[in-house]
Amino acid sequence: MQEKVSPVPVHVGIIMDGNGRWARQRGQIRTQGHLEGLKAAKRVVKAASDRGLRYLTLYTFSTENWKRTTEEVGFIMGLVKQYLRGELDFYRENHIRIRHAGDIAGLPADIAEEIRRAAEDTLGCDGMQVILALNYGGRDEIVRAVRRLTASGGQAEISEETLSAHLDNPDVPDPDLIIRSAGEFRTSNFLLWEGAYAEYYISPKFWPDWTEEDLARALENFRGRDRRFGGAVTGGAVK
Ligand code: FPP
Repeated sequence: MQEKVSPVPVHVGIIMDGNGRWARQRGQIRTQGHLEGLKAAKRVVKAASDRGLRYLTLYTFSTENWKRTTEEVGFIMGLVKQYLRGELDFYRENHIRIRHAGDIAGLPADIAEEIRRAAEDTLGCDGMQVILALNYGGRDEIVRAVRRLTASGGQAEISEETLSAHLDNPDVPDPDLIIRSAGEFRTSNFLLWEGAYAEYYISPKFWPDWTEEDLARALENFRGRDRRFGGAVTGGAVK
């Protein structure tokens, strides 16, 4: 049973949107927006770790993002690789563990290998866990979970518990808060199952402009939420 009030979210998911618009606004190419988006991700990971968050899921590349140009896809994959390699010391120093959510089999072999290596190298880190949602789609995750569940035994019982147990990271608690930058009010296939009772926070700022202060604002906003998980309103005046 989850607590009704959670002053600091345990698990935050972020839809890092607006890289392209950020670049366009400055007359730059889209990839420049992704480059700045990576810098924002680094700032926010550090801030989230410093603030004691336990899990941070970053929506880095969706199962639908393959529709983008070969150049853009290649650029994002290159950034991921660079990020995983270049930040390893930072993770170890900050006791941050790297994990992955999504269909790893559908990723280029070198990227999949990089993810496995980073996950292995940070396995012993007991601080915040950063989950890179890469080639991730909520529907795809549910389909893969059902496949795993039905393949695991002829008479597999289908229930919320057994399906949850076959998701990509079954030990990770559901997100308390999902943040989306760039002002869109959409889930875009992010953590569909796990986010059933997540609180949403939409920021108008494009992702590359995000700083530690924006995270602080989102967490402060979360503190004021009355989480009922489907239960009735108990306190306060109802008019
Ligand atoms: C959404 O903005 C962003 C993406 C699809 C890519 C996210 C990638 C990064 C932030 C860089 C890599 C980060 C890590 C953590 C390795 P958009 O391109 O859809 O923007 P738009 O809607 O304005 O076009």
